Amino acid sequence: IKFSIVTYYFYYIIFSGLDTYYSNMKVVTCIAPVNIAVIKYWGKRDEDLILPLNDSLSGTLSTEFMCAKTSILASPSLQENRFWLNGIEQSFNNRRLESCLKEVKRRANQALPHLNWNISICSKNNFPTAAGLASSAAGYACLVYALATLYEIQGDISGIARIGSGSACRSVYGGWVQWCKGTTSDGGDCIARQIAPASHWPEMRVLILVVNDARKKYSSTSGMRSSVETSQLLKYRASEIVPHRLSEITEAIKNKDFEKFAEITMKDSNQFHAVCLDTYPPCIYMNDVSHCIVDVIHAYNEYKTCNKVAYTFDAGPNACLYLLESEVEEVLSVINYVFSPPTANSEEYVKGLTVSIKTISQK
Ligand code: ADP
Ligand code: DP6
Ligand code: CO
Repeated sequence: IKFSIVTYYFYYIIFSGLDTYYSNMKVVTCIAPVNIAVIKYWGKRDEDLILPLNDSLSGTLSTEFMCAKTSILASPSLQENRFWLNGIEQSFNNRRLESCLKEVKRRANQALPHLNWNISICSKNNFPTAAGLASSAAGYACLVYALATLYEIQGDISGIARIGSGSACRSVYGGWVQWCKGTTSDGGDCIARQIAPASHWPEMRVLILVVNDARKKYSSTSGMRSSVETSQLLKYRASEIVPHRLSEITEAIKNKDFEKFAEITMKDSNQFHAVCLDTYPPCIYMNDVSHCIVDVIHAYNEYKTCNKVAYTFDAGPNACLYLLESEVEEVLSVINYVFSPPTANSEEYVKGLTVSIKTISQK
């Protein structure tokens, strides 16, 4: 009897200790998808608040193959804030990360007990980081969503994701999303909004062709800063071209007019890369394989006598192809014919406003 009482007290102490420990910690885990712009954002009018020179528009992909996954642990026993990205510890002394955290906390209920605890952030992308496949978009949308969940904030969070990385504000919403440049100097109306859900155009697919998964030479942030400083074409594009293009492509999406959608998408990608070339010194993101993909797609569309596939390239050499489900098989066989076949496990295909990823190189 004596022994059992001692044992009971022993377990009581252990479990009540664990209970106190666990109730004193909070953990959230979120995933967020990438988005691929068809009207590109390139250039800021305010570097600190990340206010763009022009509106942009993108499709948010499904999360099956390309997403960021972020876990945040808050606990009073953490000595300091820490952040890991893809398994490697990063400095927490990062202005964008700190601004997002500060803004989410500002909007939280100040009586929340865990508001002042330190946090550990652990994030991982299941696709190449900083290779022009929108990792900053998925990454910051995920971080801000996880923080918003942790600190229980309500309402639109795209304006907070925006201060992490501009393109991230569009990944906060699914389907077809417009990022409005806004009119106020504090960025209050510089937010994203869904113009149509993915279900509006259920036949739409995206094929990602990974040409090179290495980190790009110039980050999007520094590339666009240099374009703002030196490119005359950028000014013309932002004020004279994009507003008209944006309303045209919105119409094309609403009417499910693929031909028009594809033409605008390709022209806008080409103009964005023309701005990069007009930057001095130029920031070149596309390579020979990227240009070869452009040629192949135009040849394919010509053969079909109308636009059946649209390419678009972000700040990197990798291609994103928008196409309808009915075209996927044929386009994949053309890609396989022209480029080296994908290595094992690199070809994946899913339904939804979805992704197929292929790693290719020139034959
Ligand atoms: P990309 O074309 O991949 O968006 P960028 O140059 O715009 O490339 O941004 C890459 C940067 O975004 C990374 O160096 C990192 O700072 C940030 N980033 C990428 N993924 C994440 C993530 N999951 N969580 C937080 N930050 C991320
Ligand atoms: C070419 O959003 O990565 O992908 O706001 O400085 O973080 P920062 O830049 P980022 O730029 C994306 C540029 C783009 C076009 C787009 O996604 O609209
Ligand atoms: Co980016």
